[in-house]
Amino acid sequence: MTHRIATSFAVLFIVATLHAEDGSQGWLRYAPPSPTGFPLTYEAMPAALVNLDSSVEAASAQKEMLRGVRSMLGRTLRLEATIPGNDDAWVLGTAEEIRTALPGYPAPGQADKAGPGGFTLSVVTAHGYQYWIVAGADPRGILYGAFHVLSGVARGESFGSMQGSQSPAAPVRWVNQWDNLNGTIERGYAGRSIFFDDGHVRADLTRAGEYARLLASIGVNGCTINNVNADPRLLTMIPDVARIADAFRPWGVRLSIAVAINGPQVVGGLDTYDPGDPRVAAWWRAKVDAIYAAIPDFAGFVVKADSEGQPGPSQYGRTPVDAANMLAAALQPHGGIVLYRAFVYNHHLDWNDLKADRARAAYDIFHPLDGQFAPNVIVQIKNGPIDFQVREPVSPLFAGLRETNTAVELQITQEYMGQARHLVFLPTQWKTYLDFDLRANHRSTPLKDIVDGASFHRPLGGYVGVANVGLDTNWMSHPLSMANLYGFGRLAWNPNTTAAAIAEDWTRLTFSNDPKVVATISHMLLTSWSIYEHYTGPLGLQTLTNITGPHYGPAPQSQEHNGWGQWIRADHDGVGMDRTVATGTGFLGQYPPEVAAMYTSLKTCPDDLLLFMHHVPYTYKLHSGKTVIQTIYDDHYVGAQEAAGLVAQWKTLDGLIDEQRYAKVLGLLEYQAGHAIVWRDAIDRWFKQISGIPDDQHRIGHDPDRITASRMQLDGYTPIDATIWETATDGKAYACRNRNSCTASAHLDRPAGWYSVAVQYFDYRQGVSTFTLRLNQQTIAAWAADNTLPGEAPNGDTSTRFTLDGVPLRPGDTLTIEGHPDDGEPAPIDYIELTPESARAPQKAAAH
Ligand code: GCU
Repeated sequence: MTHRIATSFAVLFIVATLHAEDGSQGWLRYAPPSPTGFPLTYEAMPAALVNLDSSVEAASAQKEMLRGVRSMLGRTLRLEATIPGNDDAWVLGTAEEIRTALPGYPAPGQADKAGPGGFTLSVVTAHGYQYWIVAGADPRGILYGAFHVLSGVARGESFGSMQGSQSPAAPVRWVNQWDNLNGTIERGYAGRSIFFDDGHVRADLTRAGEYARLLASIGVNGCTINNVNADPRLLTMIPDVARIADAFRPWGVRLSIAVAINGPQVVGGLDTYDPGDPRVAAWWRAKVDAIYAAIPDFAGFVVKADSEGQPGPSQYGRTPVDAANMLAAALQPHGGIVLYRAFVYNHHLDWNDLKADRARAAYDIFHPLDGQFAPNVIVQIKNGPIDFQVREPVSPLFAGLRETNTAVELQITQEYMGQARHLVFLPTQWKTYLDFDLRANHRSTPLKDIVDGASFHRPLGGYVGVANVGLDTNWMSHPLSMANLYGFGRLAWNPNTTAAAIAEDWTRLTFSNDPKVVATISHMLLTSWSIYEHYTGPLGLQTLTNITGPHYGPAPQSQEHNGWGQWIRADHDGVGMDRTVATGTGFLGQYPPEVAAMYTSLKTCPDDLLLFMHHVPYTYKLHSGKTVIQTIYDDHYVGAQEAAGLVAQWKTLDGLIDEQRYAKVLGLLEYQAGHAIVWRDAIDRWFKQISGIPDDQHRIGHDPDRITASRMQLDGYTPIDATIWETATDGKAYACRNRNSCTASAHLDRPAGWYSVAVQYFDYRQGVSTFTLRLNQQTIAAWAADNTLPGEAPNGDTSTRFTLDGVPLRPGDTLTIEGHPDDGEPAPIDYIELTPESARAPQKAAAH
């Protein structure tokens, strides 16, 4: 970034705010809200602050107000012990405390309507003085109110415009962390656990406290600290776990743990874990009593049982009700709850059985149990019936449990969604689930109203987000991924919030109020899910990733011929799972009749879920008028083009945001654009081969700008099979083995001009191979394969692109790649691609 020498104060101010930013503060940076300085609306702000409440949450609210106002407005609030009769003041407290201390509260027309956890912001005038009131329904409400005020200040809103009451939509607003005791995180992409290391709770829990602060600022009130594939040994570590609860407590975040149902046997010394055995129930009661003795505000248990190899009640012929209610009975006297996960399915399904269907499992198992769960049990249901795919229908189980508390489990960590290397803003996707109307009893029952408890009059329920933040300074590795954590909290608080509002607010808080920054980043966020869907798995095909491996790169064949049941049933003639009642697996019969009918009829089934519901010929025409196969081809080309567009849009922000995050995001977006091409090529090649139907634009396999390694002059490079053929040209990568370096040279015969030169290579998890690129004798680029991509072979997980723009090529030139292997990574390459720069379509900038 370059900055002109600043002469005016205003310009100096802007430059001063463009300091390095490491993302550690998330959306709580408390940067001065406007590039032009102090917002006038706060000139009249009270100088004093009174906190009437003695809770730890209110103490945090007070601290936060002082910190935020100092940092954003450059003013220090004076702390007063009581409401001053001769000065304006901010007043923090519960509504009740404020009513007692300040006659005249609430002011006429400003009724306090906040429910549990909620708050009311208002201004009361008494004896000629103004009191800016943050009234919580309870201590948490005070804290949430304070954060709301500070978010408004940061986004340049006046206090007047913030006035009114707000309450959370649902009581349960939790995150799950899938942290292991050894410090790794299952499906975590941002470093090691902030809680555990080497089998112990970390000595230094600073990050745990900082995490709780971030969570509180978006209204999240619970955190499950360990992997749902739970290690029973955690049950023996309660005094240490209590230290984590201590770190959470000031922020109103209650701690919960995931429990292994075989705990009584593995760490309890019993010879059984049968939930029907009184000794087992007694063991859990004693364990729970001990937990509450150490952690009085303990929230409860999350349970994964009888799923993916986890022990469960089925071992003893018992049901989820037996297990859940036994735990619930132990927790009930203390006010604790059980979140029993409905993610229970057989992962050894018979692929040859056309009636077998993993999507049916949760409903088949849990629907018959409706009405039998204890009042302090919530069934925690993933948003869709499979597993956090790029697009799924809403799980029919939400409408199938009408006398049971339910919570929706959303995945914030981007397991099937690019693993914090691809930009995917998930609130856009989550909104499609939350707003989906299941039409239970032929009336409006959108998912959000079901989990809020409104549809079926359930007292408990809500939102669980699998977050998996790690020790990385910026919490989620990709700086833009934090928008997903933020968005989860916003939607759990109020599911009617629009994705656009979330994107805009997050951008303002995280980067800047500059209109160009806000418009550009919001646009990128809001289009990113659709872009990812285009180049991964459109039409309801699911993510088409390597489901038996790391769930990252393309591997469509991995869906099929195994017991995992993520089948797409692609053959020579057609594709898709027939889930109809008449001819398929019967899954559609699990929905209420109106929804079942909508999906069953090809006339009304939406294109974007067609192949989830139906098996159709490749030549079947969609509502769009295009065939299925041509849509698959085209969407992948569109998606790769759109991913390149994200890079171009981001580049328009150079100089408008801090250099550190600008550069980091740019690198990630460039990587993503390259990987989108890998996705495109692999999926389109695979479908072309299996269907035998050509692309009507003749793109697949015709890449005139590419020179594959097989057509280069090789010194040392030898062909090896790509682990799935469609992820490298002709199924081959070229590896440098048993040598210190190898070269691949291409003699060019291209018209003279400026070119973008891309080198496609493979970057394994281990090893840092190095590459140089030479134009004739001149070295024009050098780079290291230093990404730790999740693979140790040439495939769709590891295929990576290095691009150098602005290279002047002439006929007769030679381009040489020189690769130096390292630590088992043989500097593998695939091809070079030379794109004339004039041929690169101008990228569309964000709409302003
Ligand atoms: C996915 C994920 C697993 C996880 C499981 C779950 O299948 O890949 O790592 O354990 O979901 O939600 O239980």
